[in-house]
Amino acid sequence: MSMMEPLNLEDFVSSEAIKRLRRPAAEAEGLPGRAYADPAFFNLERQKLFPRGWMAIGFESDVPNAGDAVPVSIAGWDFIVARNRDNEVKVFHNICRHRSMTVLREPCTKAQTLQCGWHGWTYDLNGRLIATPDIGGVDEKSGKVSAEQPGIEKAKLGLREVRSTTWMHFVFVNIDGQAEPFESFIQPVFDRIPDHDLSLVKFSGITTKAQFDGNWKLAIETGCEDYHLPWVHPQIGERSGTFAGERGADTYVSISSRRKGNEPGDDSLPMFPHYNGKKMHEDGLGNELVLFFIVPNAIVAVLDDHVVTTIYLPQSHDCTPTRRAFHFIGDAATDEEHHAVREAVRDGWVTVGEQDFPMVREVQTKHAQRDELGMPTRFSAYWESAVHHFQNIVVDRLSA
Ligand code: FES
Ligand SMILES: [Fe+2]
Repeated sequence: MSMMEPLNLEDFVSSEAIKRLRRPAAEAEGLPGRAYADPAFFNLERQKLFPRGWMAIGFESDVPNAGDAVPVSIAGWDFIVARNRDNEVKVFHNICRHRSMTVLREPCTKAQTLQCGWHGWTYDLNGRLIATPDIGGVDEKSGKVSAEQPGIEKAKLGLREVRSTTWMHFVFVNIDGQAEPFESFIQPVFDRIPDHDLSLVKFSGITTKAQFDGNWKLAIETGCEDYHLPWVHPQIGERSGTFAGERGADTYVSISSRRKGNEPGDDSLPMFPHYNGKKMHEDGLGNELVLFFIVPNAIVAVLDDHVVTTIYLPQSHDCTPTRRAFHFIGDAATDEEHHAVREAVRDGWVTVGEQDFPMVREVQTKHAQRDELGMPTRFSAYWESAVHHFQNIVVDRLSA
C-alpha cells in the first residue's frame, strides 16, 4: 500500500471491534493487535491522527537562545524548531523549497540563517528565503554568476511554517492548521487542578532520554494505570485505594492517587503553596498526584513538589523514543540547596521507566501474534479506565 493512498480505520478495525471497544470498560475489548504491530496502521495514524490535533515535538529549552535551531522528526514528519532574533519559537517543515533536501540536519546555535546543504538556498529564522546562490548561472559576457532567476520569487518560497505554540516548557504543533485554539484544547487540564499555580513551575535543566521498543500507544498504556505497580515497581510502595482513571474531554486521560504519605521532612522540596506545607494528611495519605496523558504524545505529571513533562516521539510502529524534563517550584528548580534532591527525583523516575521497558518489548511482539490468533485484550474497570478511555480517544480521532 502506498503511503500516499488514503487509509481508513475500517480497513484495520471492523465496526464490530469498535463497538466492543465502546462498551463499558468491564465488558470492553481493547484495540486489535494490528493497531500496534502493523506498519500500515502507523501510516494511518501518521495521516489522520498526528497532523490533526496538537502534538508535542520538543522543549523550549532545546532552543534557549536566539539563533538556535534543532531538527525534530516524529511519525514521519520532519520539523525545524528555531528561535528567531525576536526570541520567538518558530516551527517549520524541514524541507527545502528548491528540491526538497533536509534544510537543517544538525542542531545549530547563533545562526543568522539556515542554509540548505544541496544547492545553498538560504533562509532566515522566520523562514524567509533570502538567497538562491548561483541560480541564474554564468553570464556569457561578463563571466559573472547570478543569484537571481526570473520566475523564482523568493517571497513565495519561504520554508513552510507549522502552526505552533509553547506551554509548560513544551513546543506543540498542529500540522493541518485546523485544530481548535491551543488555549481551549488545554483548558481541561487547568479545570482538573484549579488550585495549582502552574506559573510557579520552573525548569531545572534536568532532562532524560530513553526509548521504548514498542508502539507509542503501548508505551502510553503502560503508564496510565497503577494496576501493575506491585509487580513491576514494588519500590513505589502500596497502592492506597484512592486511585482514579479519568478522561478530560478529548484532551487527556489521567490517573491520580494519594499514595501512602512520606513523613514530613523526608525531603526539603517546596510544594505548591495551596498545600501549605502539608505533606501527609490525617488519613495517612499524601497529596494527590495527577498524571495527564495529553493525547496523543505529551505527559504532564503534577506532584505536590515537582512537575515532570514527557514527550513520546514515535518513529515507527515499534520504536518510540521519549524525552523527559524535570521542573520544581520556584527557586528550588535551580538553587544549590536542592541539587541532590532534584537528582534523586530524576533517578526515581529513570528507575520506573527502565522497569517498564521489558514489558513494552515483550507485549509488542505479542500484539502481532495475538492479531494472527484473533485474541482480544480486556481491561480492569477499576485500574484501567484511563487505558480504555485512551483507546477510545484514539479511535475517535481516527474516525473523524
Ligand atoms: S534542495 Fe535545497 S538548495 Fe537545492
Ligand atoms: Fe510502569
